[in-house]
Amino acid sequence: MPQPDASPELSARVDAAVEAALAAIDAASTTAELQAAKSAHNGQGSELAGLNASLRDIAPEERKAAGQTIGAGRARVAEAIAARQGELAAAEEAAQLEAERVDVTALPRLRAPGGRHPLSMLADEMTDVFVGMGWEVAEGPELEHEWYNFDALNVDPDHPARSESDTFYVAPAERHLVLRTQTSPVQARSMLTRELPIYIVAPGRVYRTDDIDATHLPVFTQMEGLAIDKGLTMAHLRGTLEHLARIMFGEEAKIRLRPNYFPFTEPSAEMDVWHPGMRGGPRWVEWGGCGMVNPNVLRATGVDPEVYSGFAFGMGVERTLQFRYQLDDMRDMIEGDVRFTEQFGMVI
Ligand code: PHE
Repeated sequence: MPQPDASPELSARVDAAVEAALAAIDAASTTAELQAAKSAHNGQGSELAGLNASLRDIAPEERKAAGQTIGAGRARVAEAIAARQGELAAAEEAAQLEAERVDVTALPRLRAPGGRHPLSMLADEMTDVFVGMGWEVAEGPELEHEWYNFDALNVDPDHPARSESDTFYVAPAERHLVLRTQTSPVQARSMLTRELPIYIVAPGRVYRTDDIDATHLPVFTQMEGLAIDKGLTMAHLRGTLEHLARIMFGEEAKIRLRPNYFPFTEPSAEMDVWHPGMRGGPRWVEWGGCGMVNPNVLRATGVDPEVYSGFAFGMGVERTLQFRYQLDDMRDMIEGDVRFTEQFGMVI
C-alpha cells in the first residue's frame, strides 16, 4: 500500500512553525533567551505542540504521514536548540572565566603598620657615626637622681639651672628625683661604672620647663658624648665634632667654638655649626655645648685628673634635624602627623 504524504496544508504549517522556531533560536544570545525560545516554539502551547495534539483528529490513514512530518519538524527544532545551547554555554563560561580572572602574580596591598620617627632615625644615624669610630652607646634613666643630674656634674646647690623654673622635680621631695634636664648625668654614671679609657655616646630624652615654640620643646632629645683617655685635648674634641658635622650636614660644614661656661667642663664652649644648606642661607647656628671635662668631675667619679683628661659634648637632635632639612617649626616633630614623618622616608 503506497504511503500517502501529509497534506500540503499541514506541511506548510509545520514548515512555517519550524522556520519561526529556528529564527528565534538563532536570535537567542543567552541561555535564558534560548530557554524562552524553546518553550515558545516547542513547549506546551506552541504551534508544533498544537499540531501534534491535533493528530488525533486526523483520519487514521493520514495520521502516520502527518505524525512523521510534525515529528521531523520538532526534531529539527530540538536539534537546533541543542546546538545553540552548546554554543551559548561555551560562550557564557568563557565570559565568566574572563570576568573572574585572578592575577596570581599581583602583589598584595600591604598596610603599613607604622613608621619610625625621623628623630629616632636621626639619633641612630648620629650614634652610628661614633659606633663607627669604636665608641660605645651608654644609657641612663630619664627619671634621674638629682645627684647625677647636678651634684656629680659640679653644679652647685644654688645654680640657676637647679631652680624649679627650669627643672621638673618629682614628688616626694625627699627622694631628690628630677626628670633629667640633660644627658650629661650619663657622663657621671659612665665614669663611675666603666673601665678607662671611656668613649661613649648617650642619646636620650631630656626635660625642661620651657614653653613650647618653633625652636623649643619641653621634652627633647640630646646626644651626649664623653671621651676619657690619656692625653686628650681640645683638638680631639674639635676634630670629633667636625667629623660629626660633616656627616650630618655635608663636606662643606664647619664648626666654631665660642667660650662659654658649664660647671662640668673647663674650658667650656658653645658650639656653632655652619653649612651652605641652612634655612635662610649659609649661617652659623648654635648646635650644642662642649668642653674639657672639669677635674672636679673626674675626681668626684674616681678618675685621677693627673693621669687622665677628657672631653664632652651635648647637642640637640631636634636642632640637628631642623638644620639638616631647613625645618621651620620644631612642633611638627611632635605632632605625630604622618604627612610630616613620611617625608623622611619612614620605614618599617
Ligand atoms: N649638658 C649641656 C646642656 O644641656 C651640654 C654640654 C654637654 C656641655 C657636655 C658640655 C659638655 O646644655
